[in-house]
Amino acid sequence: MFLRDVLEGLGKQQKTLPCKYLYDEIGSRLFERICELDDYYLTRTEAAIFSDNMVDMARQIGPGAAIVEPGAGNCEKVQPLLEQLDSPRGYYPIDISPEILLAARARIIAQLPDLEVQASVGDFTRPEVWRELDDLAAGKTVLFFPGSTIGNFDPCQAGELLQFFATRLRSGDAILIGTDLVKDSVVLERAYCDSEHVTAAFNKNILARINGELDADFDLSLFAHRAFYHPLRQRVEMHLVSLKEHCVRIAGRQVRFAEGETIHTENSHKYSVTGFNRLLDEAGFAPIRHWSDLQQRYAIHYAQVA
Ligand code: TRP
Repeated sequence: MFLRDVLEGLGKQQKTLPCKYLYDEIGSRLFERICELDDYYLTRTEAAIFSDNMVDMARQIGPGAAIVEPGAGNCEKVQPLLEQLDSPRGYYPIDISPEILLAARARIIAQLPDLEVQASVGDFTRPEVWRELDDLAAGKTVLFFPGSTIGNFDPCQAGELLQFFATRLRSGDAILIGTDLVKDSVVLERAYCDSEHVTAAFNKNILARINGELDADFDLSLFAHRAFYHPLRQRVEMHLVSLKEHCVRIAGRQVRFAEGETIHTENSHKYSVTGFNRLLDEAGFAPIRHWSDLQQRYAIHYAQVA
């Protein structure tokens, strides 16, 4: 799987690596540090929108809801919501990194002993990991999808993912989903190329992981992190730039890098509120309302399955 995906990605004209492989245990820890950076306004802004509107959000969701969180990570964002909700039925986090997820599950159980918590390990875009959730029983289900994770899919895949989510839900179920909004490129680029170089370490960790798991010899000092905003595509692109011409050996094969050639590792798409409502609508979710910060940097949308 990993080897096949890596060789396929690095065999393309524009080399790429699937971003889900950024999240091994080290990657997930580095990612937590990104979220705490001054330059990375997203997490802070989103948290403020949640805390300013939590009562309103809980009221909108209503009593007895089951909360499912794809890509839950350390499950920290959901906690205030779980505390605010009127008798939630259960919390079902899904994440690709078992270490982080299982530690978080233990923490939530300790803090909210009356809540049913069931964690699933796996890639949330795959139907298998949702199967365990098929018997969520009667009652409302709300997908909690914060962190602008939807922005890491290109708009076409994002639409498909939302559609996939919608088909896992029933009429009246809902999604509470965060998106970063289109804004000045200087602010955006600083968020993804922080002065403490944590994002650079996060991006390069994928090469270290390939070395460790696939018998490869990437020299990390021969790659630099680059992030820039592409205004037409409305996204920040993250790349690893080869600093000189060289070859890397991966599981017995040679992969050649020209000087300046890049591996495209991740995108972070930015939306307008109207643009995102259109995406929700096309995927089968009726947009009900959204909450934003005063500077309109970020938005949390609530939409319901028709
Ligand atoms: N979804 C968030 C974003 O696009 C967080 C994120 C995912 C991220 N991958 C990242 C942040 C890589 C920095 C670098 O911003």
